[in-house]
Amino acid sequence: PRLLARLVPRKWNVDACLKHSNAAAVEKNKKNSTPACVDVYVPASHAFNPAVLPGFVGLAEQHGLKSYKDFHRFSLENSDQFWGALGSAYLDWQKDFTTVQESNFKTGDIKWFLGGKLNVSYNCLDRHVARTPDKTALIWEKDEPGKEERITYSQLLGMTCRLANVLKQANVKHGDRVVIYLPNCPLAVAGMMACARIGAIHSLVFAGFSADALRDRIQNCEAKVVITVDEMTRGGKVIGLKKIVDAAVKDCPSVQAVFLEQRSKNEGKATKLDVRLHDALSGVDAICKPEVMDSEDPLFLLYTSGSTGKPKGLIHTQAGYLLYAAVTQQVAFNYSPAEDVFGCVADVGWITGHSYIVYGPLANGGTTVLFESTPLYPNPSRYWEMVERLKINQLYLSPTAVRSLLKRGDEHLRDHDLSSLKTLGVVGEPINHEAWEWLYDKVGNRKCPIVDTYWQTETGGVIIAPLPADAGDPIYPSMAMRPFFGIDPIIENSEALVDHGADLAGAIYIKQAWPGITRGVYGDQQRFVETYFSQSPGHYCTGDGAIETPEGYFRVTGRTDEVINISGHRLGTAEIEDALDLHDGLSESAVISFPHSVKGEGLVAFVVMKDSHAKDDRKKIVKELKDVIKMKIASYAVPEEILICQSLPKTRSGKIMRRILKQIATSKTDDFGDTSTLADPYVLEAIIATWSETH
Ligand code: PRX
Repeated sequence: PRLLARLVPRKWNVDACLKHSNAAAVEKNKKNSTPACVDVYVPASHAFNPAVLPGFVGLAEQHGLKSYKDFHRFSLENSDQFWGALGSAYLDWQKDFTTVQESNFKTGDIKWFLGGKLNVSYNCLDRHVARTPDKTALIWEKDEPGKEERITYSQLLGMTCRLANVLKQANVKHGDRVVIYLPNCPLAVAGMMACARIGAIHSLVFAGFSADALRDRIQNCEAKVVITVDEMTRGGKVIGLKKIVDAAVKDCPSVQAVFLEQRSKNEGKATKLDVRLHDALSGVDAICKPEVMDSEDPLFLLYTSGSTGKPKGLIHTQAGYLLYAAVTQQVAFNYSPAEDVFGCVADVGWITGHSYIVYGPLANGGTTVLFESTPLYPNPSRYWEMVERLKINQLYLSPTAVRSLLKRGDEHLRDHDLSSLKTLGVVGEPINHEAWEWLYDKVGNRKCPIVDTYWQTETGGVIIAPLPADAGDPIYPSMAMRPFFGIDPIIENSEALVDHGADLAGAIYIKQAWPGITRGVYGDQQRFVETYFSQSPGHYCTGDGAIETPEGYFRVTGRTDEVINISGHRLGTAEIEDALDLHDGLSESAVISFPHSVKGEGLVAFVVMKDSHAKDDRKKIVKELKDVIKMKIASYAVPEEILICQSLPKTRSGKIMRRILKQIATSKTDDFGDTSTLADPYVLEAIIATWSETH
């Protein structure tokens, strides 16, 4: 059935809710909050249907629950009963859990499914192999279109077991850390599964990160082995990963072996640590007994940026994470594991890839696409040609990709049959109305609901999204809309903590634990509690701002802290400033973000050089500073602009006034508001003059 859509302005009182707000971030995003014009309603085909969902069906019968609203209320009021039923229905246990949860948002102690024993790889592979061994688990969509490979559940289990045996031979044991530095490819998935099989903890590092960033992560988790490939091809360009790994592991005494897949014919320089995977895999058994794991044993670490310079390794554990990934993948995207092909075009190195390329779809026994290319290669039709060829049913992408494709014109969509698409998902950053409407109109042909999913590395899976919902419920453009089951978000503003209310804007907190929430920061529990549970004791702090409408729908407006979002990639301004600091000549710097039409946010770095470098060639310095960021973090973290100034605007207490720098970078210099705390007003004039010279 077609979705209903009407073109009338919504009566959502954005100004009224902004009035309540003290959150600068909400004000910053006001532009994004103009009421939208398209109202869309959830079609019957996408309505929440407990009858077809494991666990839900029993709860519906026992407690007379029918609608999304019934279940949502029940999941908050009877959290243990709700998640207990789903835990039993979705997962296979070697020993049943005895207690559903012991969660404390004051101390940050969170445990789910206590007493339970299970194996994640068994849940993702063996149990499906028993029923549908020849079903496609992975479709590996390589860089060159039309060269895809399909891997069945039984093949993936075979690869996993062999790799697990290779890891065991290398003395990798329960609890040891394994770093995986790979693009989207079957080896990355088998690597994750192999770790889960033997109880090792994997940590994927996005294959765009520099050698320094990789080294920092390996050192932080003291990884015993690294799994990588000699080179990868992305967008037609060959990228040598092995060189980067060699440079990184030089300073990592914990690493005892580097497992290397060889794709190219070039025999690169071998090091003492290298183990060729091809040979190692052929020498081991294709059977490996799954280790019996405790529900709360760590499954993986994933490093992400916070407001300090050092990325943190967030911990996710076995049962709760897997359950949450599986349930959200099925319910928030209206995914039917028996027949649908799920196309999440993220990278496995980010949390989106973990939960919605790998763990969710495989736990559900579905078919998932591993996309190794870019949206523009070989041309801007890539996604659409792939959707048609692979008959993708759910496409999950980033707003940045949508914006960059819409800019290139509708002709790239023409001549592609997109009728397989049922649901379109977006994630990573707020989506603007133009991009939302283009996706809805041109890609989804006004038939596919847009599921704007709000979540974080910390949350393990989607926490606010338009689905699940009941038939006929609205979906408003650019709004994440409804809390998922078990999620109770609240908005906090200057008028103290508020429960649910009318047109409220402020910082978004979550009141109670859900199974997918991270269990901590690796090696730094104090940082965990301080970052997430100290602002409003007893509540989880997301660090994001949001607006809640009177109906209880949420629009996420962006970060309220110094974390920024470049093309959906998360970075801390402090992290970039720390990288700049590595330049000998740098005295100090302030990195700020500004709204960017494609990337969501762009960066400007205001830097002050030491006197010894004051006379150096500016172009040369800017290039050196850019190179330092590329070396320390990654290319995507390099600012659009680096401005060399005499000094930075500071308060009398020495705090850099970033607000003012943002105004300069967005040319809003008419009114700087209250500058009475500025230590030296002349600094401002000098920076404006420097900015004007270059613009
Ligand atoms: O600011 C929010 C933004 O991305 C941050 C989380 O980044 P990361 O941990 O890298 O995970 C990204 C993929 C889940 C959030 O704190 N964000 C994520 N999804 C949305 C979003 N902002 C607005 N709308 C979204 N749908």
